[in-house]
Amino acid sequence: MALTGVLRPGHAQVRVLDLEESVRFYRDVLGLVETGRDAEGRVYFKCWDERDHNSYVIRQADRAGIDFFGFKVLDKATLDQLDADLQAYGLATERIPAGEMLETGERVRFTLPSGHVMELYADKTSIGNGLAEVNPAPWGPQREHGIAPVRLDHALLYGPNVAEVQKIFTEVLGFYLVERVLTPDGEGNVAIWLSCSHKVHDIAFAEYPEPGKLHHCSFLMESWEQVLRAGDIMSMNLVPVDIGPTRHGVTRGCTIYAWDPSGNRFETFMGGYQPYPDYGPLTWTFDNFGQGLDYPQRKLHETFLTVVS
Ligand SMILES: [Fe+2]
Repeated sequence: MALTGVLRPGHAQVRVLDLEESVRFYRDVLGLVETGRDAEGRVYFKCWDERDHNSYVIRQADRAGIDFFGFKVLDKATLDQLDADLQAYGLATERIPAGEMLETGERVRFTLPSGHVMELYADKTSIGNGLAEVNPAPWGPQREHGIAPVRLDHALLYGPNVAEVQKIFTEVLGFYLVERVLTPDGEGNVAIWLSCSHKVHDIAFAEYPEPGKLHHCSFLMESWEQVLRAGDIMSMNLVPVDIGPTRHGVTRGCTIYAWDPSGNRFETFMGGYQPYPDYGPLTWTFDNFGQGLDYPQRKLHETFLTVVS
């Protein structure tokens, strides 16, 4: 098996202002599958083609934003090793006991120099994707409800100290740098796209003075036509759209950015290329980031730089 260590983004916990309004939005407009509620009142969702019990969790709070973003790792031994590696690097870690999140094993939690809380875990109950494991159909009714992305794909997070964050992901957690936007002087990176897999990004960061901010969680669609259909459903439901449909220069992803009812941005996207760890990073100069963000329009949308939750 080639894919070891950190496997993939596993879960995000996001704050919402009105829980039931948000449940209706995430279930019926975005088309996630509600899989449970816990004693704290958190509501758990997964995308239809994900097999683990949950990937997107919302809780009611008085301000929007992200509580934490978690990655699934290969197994318990990997979890213990990465915990030790993080501590050896100089980061404090905390163990969150199994069961604190529904159907989720023990988590290793740590805070990045960007102010974001990250988690690693090895176990989450597999409940399947509603399709048979023998002679499965390619899709079922859940794929037809709302926008219905196939998986939680990545997040873009805004905060300070991106260079230090890059070192932690590449030197401790086994990620590699796929693309970057240079600072205006060309000496550093103002934004980075990192992969632990064959995906063009599993997480991304942009330099921002305020710590711990969410730019967007991203959901994968199966095709460009499905991204356009997502835009139709957003308009039918009067969802505020930020950018798109368009194509990023960075990652080549085809995208729509929009906001949930609490002002948390989310993305429905498809495409991109498939990098390997031996590829060198692709670089965008700061003066050309408009093309990196919106390739057809070559436009550095103000909201992309300034609106976060
Ligand atoms: Fe994205």
